Formats: sequence, C-alpha cells, structure tokens
Amino acid sequence: MFQHVEAYAGDPILSLNEAFGKDPRTDKINLSIGIYFDDAGKIPMLPSVRAAELQVVAEAGARPYLPMEGAANFRTAVQHLLFGAEHPAVKAGRVVTIQTVGSSGGLKVGGDFIKRYFPTSTMLISDPTWDNHRAVFEGCGLPTQIYPYYDPATGSLRFDAMLAALKQAEKKSIVLLHACCHNPTGVDLTRAQWEQLVPVLQERELIPFLDLAYQGYGDGITEDAFAVRLLGDVGLSFFVANSFSKSMSLYGERCGALSVVCPDAAQAVNVLGQMKANIRRNYSNPPLHGGQIVARVLTDPELRPMWEAEVAAMRERIQTMRHKLHDVLSAKLPGKDFSYFLTQRGMFSYTGLTADQCDRLKEQFGVYLVRSGRMCVAGLNTSNVEATASAVAAVLA
Ligand code: LMR
Repeated sequence: MFQHVEAYAGDPILSLNEAFGKDPRTDKINLSIGIYFDDAGKIPMLPSVRAAELQVVAEAGARPYLPMEGAANFRTAVQHLLFGAEHPAVKAGRVVTIQTVGSSGGLKVGGDFIKRYFPTSTMLISDPTWDNHRAVFEGCGLPTQIYPYYDPATGSLRFDAMLAALKQAEKKSIVLLHACCHNPTGVDLTRAQWEQLVPVLQERELIPFLDLAYQGYGDGITEDAFAVRLLGDVGLSFFVANSFSKSMSLYGERCGALSVVCPDAAQAVNVLGQMKANIRRNYSNPPLHGGQIVARVLTDPELRPMWEAEVAAMRERIQTMRHKLHDVLSAKLPGKDFSYFLTQRGMFSYTGLTADQCDRLKEQFGVYLVRSGRMCVAGLNTSNVEATASAVAAVLA
C-alpha cells in the first residue's frame, strides 16, 4: 500500500539534534538547534515561568476548548508585548492576534491566508534564512525567491543589494524579515536601515511578514520589537509571527502568535474571521496550558519584572560566551578575524565553516553545528567553550 512513499531525508536542524541525542560520547557539545542552555548545559526552567505554571495549575478547573483564535487574555497580552498597550493601531482595533502552535504555526496559518487572498504573490526570503522558511511557505503553495542579505566575504549585511532587489520586486510581494537576531546569521538591520527600508516597502506596496522568534536575545524585550512598532507607526499593513519558545524557555509547549496589522477595524474583523476558518480546518483550536502560563508571566506585576531580568541574564550570558570564544580562537589562530562572534547578535553566529568542516567537527570532536556553518552560541558554557574553540581551530588550521 505504501510502497510509493519515499524515505524522508530528515531536517537539517531537528534531525541533527536527534543525532546528537543518540551520540554516546559524554563530551559531545550541542551547538546545533536554537535552544538556550544554561551554564550547566541544561535547558532552564525560568523561575518566573515555573511560578506562573504553579499558579495556573492551582487555579485550573474544567478544560473546555479554547476559541479557534485562542485565549483572549493571551492574545491581548501578546499585542501589548509587541506593540505596546497604547499603540494607536491596537487602540483602534486594527491589530488581529491569534494564538498559534509555536511561531511556526503562525507562519503556516499566515502563509495559508496569503495564498488564499494574494494568490499571485511571491514570498521573498533572505539569503540565507531559517532552513524551514522555504518549506513552510512552499507547503502553503507560495512560490519563494531569495533577496540578498548576508555577505560571506565581510560577515555583514548587503543592505544596498537588499534594497535594490526589493525596489525591483513585484507589487504585493510578501517580504519575510527577521525582526531581530537573524537566523542563521546573527546579522540584523540597524534602526537606521529599518527606517530606510520603510519607504521601499511603501512604494512597492510590499507586505512585510516579520518573524520574531528571539525576542529579548538581541538588545532587550522592548528594543527587539523596534521593527514591529516602526512598521505599525508608519501605517503599513503587515504580519508578525512571534514565539515564547526561547524567551520563556517553553519550547515543547508550542506557544506562539500571529498578529496582522490591518488598515482599519472593519478589515481586521474579516481577517480574524478567515484566520479562524483556516484554524478550524487544520487543528480546530490551540492548546490551553502553555498559553495560560505565558499570559500569566506577561500580566502579573511580580512575575513580569522577574521574567525580564531572567531574559536579560540569558542574553548577557550569551554575550560572555561570544567574548570567550572570540578570545580563545583569536589566541589560537592569530591571523584570523573572529570579530563576527562579537558583532553578530542573538543565539546564532554564522561561522563560515563549510559543510565538510562541520562534518569533521561532529565526527572527530563531537561538536555539532548545522552544516550551513551556523553555530548556536547559546549552547556554549564555561565547561565547553575551550573545547569548542580547540575543535574549531583544528578544522580551520
Ligand atoms: C532553530 O532554528 O534551530 C530553531 O528555531 C528550532 C527549529 O525549529 O528549527
């Protein structure tokens, strides 16, 4: 019956993470998947999140279905987090927010909506981008095209080339933009560059789709929402998918949201309605538990500042590790420039290591990086950073 079903080649990130789990070596180092590990090499349970969960469980009663669009308290809390409670678009009822199954779920629901209502649009994705972006949007039936983004020669952004490409884009193309902590390169637009991008988006009638999966890992929780607020301030219509996997260390709870900023409240009502219809056809409604933890952390006056401090501590620990790796590698290979570890932001650095070098790192040293050369620096700690530097220096020598 299933002879025609072909073998799955695996996912470049998730399958590598599974391979890491099966590797029997005790000194193996996981710098593959975008997960924050603490200095003891463990996925942290944030105290604010734990406290919120205990409260939610203590209060839990019957478990009705959530509405198709998710829990109202979660959706409002997300809007306030992203845009600010006083943002005119929020106050005017122009922002639609739905609770989704991780931000991946938001990308998928948004992609399906775009395919239905902008059927001739192309999804423009950065070169490179998260390995799964192309697959998700092509799975929605949307053709994808790349725009220039990262310059491997300089380790920086090809901003002029990016702008030039977007100026040539077909009207109503969808432009997938990483709001902060670009995955996989760690290279972001500056605030001035975001401001320069706005008129191009407006003139070409492009529809931005922001992916905000790493909020808090760049400059700060509010700072990392700069692009969201800027696009809202200038009156653009756009999509933003955001996640609490990393910022609340709630990976398996699949807590995400999709927000759509609409030109007016009447259009927002219809957009929400069609999002609900799409959710009903796919999975009916999102799960309850994780979203209630998120809503509690975001809205509780004691837990919210605790969480903000915990996110700051994770961000600062990654910075310390970036400096340490930079210093050890620079000492080992004095002729080479490792300053990109210091300038790139968020969980990832794009090392320029080739797929063969990554294979050697894995096989010979038990150091796991995605074969694109992406290193999850959030997997470094005081016990493994020297070994990582030695292994990288060995394959580069
Ligand atoms: C990553 O890029 O490693 C993370 O976003 C996890 C994933 O689902 O790929």
